[in-house]
Amino acid sequence: MDIEILNALLKPKSVAVIGASATPGKIGHTVLLNLQESKYKGGIYPINPKSDEILGFKCYKSVLNVKEQIDAAIIVVPAKFVLQIVDECGKKGIKGLLVITSGFAEVGKDDLEKEVVAKSRSYGMRVLGPNIVGVLSNSDDFNGSFAPFLPYKGTASLVSQSGALLIGIDAQTYTRGIGFDKLISIGNMSDVNFADTIEWLDQDEKTSCISLYVEGLNDGRCVIDKGRKATKPIIALKAGSSAHGAVAAASHTGSLAGSSKIYKSAFAQAGIIQAEDLDNLFDRTLVLSLQPPMKGDNVLIITNGGGVGVLGTDSAEKFGVPLKYTPPELQEKLKKYMPSFGSAKNPVDLTGMAGNDWYHDTVKIAFNHEWVDGLVVLYCETAMTNPLEIAKSIKKSVDDTGIKNKPIIASFVGGERSDKAMRWLVKNGIPAYAGPDVALNAISALKEYAKIREDSKDIPTTYDDANREKAMDVINYARNEERIALTEIEAKHVFAAYGLPVTRAKIAKSEEEAVSFANEIGFPIVMKIVSPDILHKSDAGGVIVDVNSIEDVRKFFNEIMENAKVYKADANIHGVVIQEMAPWGTEVILGSVNDPTFGPTMMFGLGGIFVEVLKDVTFRVAPFSKRQAAEMIGEINAAPILIGIRGEKPKDREALSDTICRYANMIYDLRDEINESDANPVLVYEEGDGLKVADARILLTKK
Ligand code: COA
Repeated sequence: MDIEILNALLKPKSVAVIGASATPGKIGHTVLLNLQESKYKGGIYPINPKSDEILGFKCYKSVLNVKEQIDAAIIVVPAKFVLQIVDECGKKGIKGLLVITSGFAEVGKDDLEKEVVAKSRSYGMRVLGPNIVGVLSNSDDFNGSFAPFLPYKGTASLVSQSGALLIGIDAQTYTRGIGFDKLISIGNMSDVNFADTIEWLDQDEKTSCISLYVEGLNDGRCVIDKGRKATKPIIALKAGSSAHGAVAAASHTGSLAGSSKIYKSAFAQAGIIQAEDLDNLFDRTLVLSLQPPMKGDNVLIITNGGGVGVLGTDSAEKFGVPLKYTPPELQEKLKKYMPSFGSAKNPVDLTGMAGNDWYHDTVKIAFNHEWVDGLVVLYCETAMTNPLEIAKSIKKSVDDTGIKNKPIIASFVGGERSDKAMRWLVKNGIPAYAGPDVALNAISALKEYAKIREDSKDIPTTYDDANREKAMDVINYARNEERIALTEIEAKHVFAAYGLPVTRAKIAKSEEEAVSFANEIGFPIVMKIVSPDILHKSDAGGVIVDVNSIEDVRKFFNEIMENAKVYKADANIHGVVIQEMAPWGTEVILGSVNDPTFGPTMMFGLGGIFVEVLKDVTFRVAPFSKRQAAEMIGEINAAPILIGIRGEKPKDREALSDTICRYANMIYDLRDEINESDANPVLVYEEGDGLKVADARILLTKK
């Protein structure tokens, strides 16, 4: 990242508005007015061949007529003039272009967009957009956009792929009282993209948390890389998770339908927290911008009402931070501040009698206690208490402890007085929410953040025994025959080159060879047709299992060859594979896709109906660590089957995670060769007995 150029683009010291207009209501007028009204201190240079002055600013016919240095140009002329403007900006030595103008790739004019970027780059300029609302920055008093005003002041910064949504969010920062420093509209991402803005915001001293509204990434791996390296929390709302939404978003990205599961995993691998919806994006942004990660598991709830306490308890479980009983010694201390009918167990119920002092003292004791990793303070308005005073007591007790590396969150249930108290809390660094469920979701985000940060430091596991050359021999053989579908036996050879435990197999071209191989491998065996033209072998009568005698080998060899000819007369038949018959085990599937956004991506699930009907699968962008592979096994709904239920012995998860990890290495290493693949079924045996890949499929990339 060229920090100087991005600084010039995102916090410029001077700007030209090219297409500035004297006509109110035009975007070129609004942008200039916004710069004026936001009290931008840098140089402002309106450019319009028809005017001498607009809004009191001297107007120039071209940027080339401006003597002073200009950092960035905000372009608001119609698309057909943009290339010429880029030239002038380049000659002027401008560093960055904010192209508000629409009418580029989003309407199919990809070539024009590429030309704009290429020309800009030839002058060393970077382009934000086109098709953007602009950039807003509170700390720079810079509203370089046509959004009506700078956002409510705060320390989060947002990057949005949707311009309209950014304007909506801008307005909502006030109604929600959630503060932002920068709002960056990223538009078509022709040049500056999410990865650039993540890296830049991570070093921006005014930003404490990075929020993203994402429809589709064009730089998936780069985002994973920058996300991993970021030192600040990143939270993303990914639109397009429904089948219909994915189609709507595809106009931006051409992403795979159903890729939301891949995004979910990729974000986690990048150390990026996800938001469920817009409310959740705001709520989680607030907590991540104000509070530190929660390092342990122990959440303590303090409340003055049993009802909100129960709601909080339910939500804690729902969001993955189930409550545990307070240690007895802490209970004893807390009991001093409640009547006999209160409870110190967790939730700590101070009862409706709780006033400022009880809140102050219990929060202080609990927050100070080493068992407590995160504190959620709930409060219901009562006639005897003043919400603002309760808020101040909470804040004072936190300040009294001096603790800064542990999170605290509040939820006040009440009316206007509670709303005011919560605004006060937020202004004073304590996130506060109207619903106890929202507060518990917020603390779960801090827990998630701590975990995800830790996980994203994982280094992918590598294997010295992988034999790429051997795999490439098989692939090149198929390519020489102009095939992209490998036969099962070829696919198994590729798998075996990367250390996957495939069933032993040999291709017999004659009845005699079939008998000799069967003797060599040992009975029982499986016999299958081998033909690149017959992918669905069973449909072609090309699979016989549990063959136990030499007579049967002879008989079935001829039968399979006959069936194949009947099924497809002109099929290219390589022979019949004689394969070790693996004992039956728990069926799982390992597979891969070359995702358009993230590249080689691994899938794992339980086989059979679990994958076909229930789609109970999970993904990871390859490569990854063995620990992540083990996590994949635990992620599917059917995980208990592998862990061992109802007296069944646990399956060999150690061997399975090793195989998943090897597979991920293979698809990453051969990312230019393998487009799709699967090992299905893979038969997993009891702990210590390993597993076997019984069937294999590889489709190569078209070259
Ligand atoms: N240099 C400087 N100014 C120029 C120029 C040039 N080479 N060519 C034209 N202009 C001036 C025009 O004379 C006009 O000024 P005027 O009002 O004084 O006549 C001004 O630039 C704007 O041009 P105009 O033709 O009036 O266009 P417009 O204002 O109707 O629309 C855009 C321009 C960029 C706003 C429009 O093309 C567009 O893209 N709109 C969508 C933007 C958007 O929504 N983006 C975000 C999506 S989330």
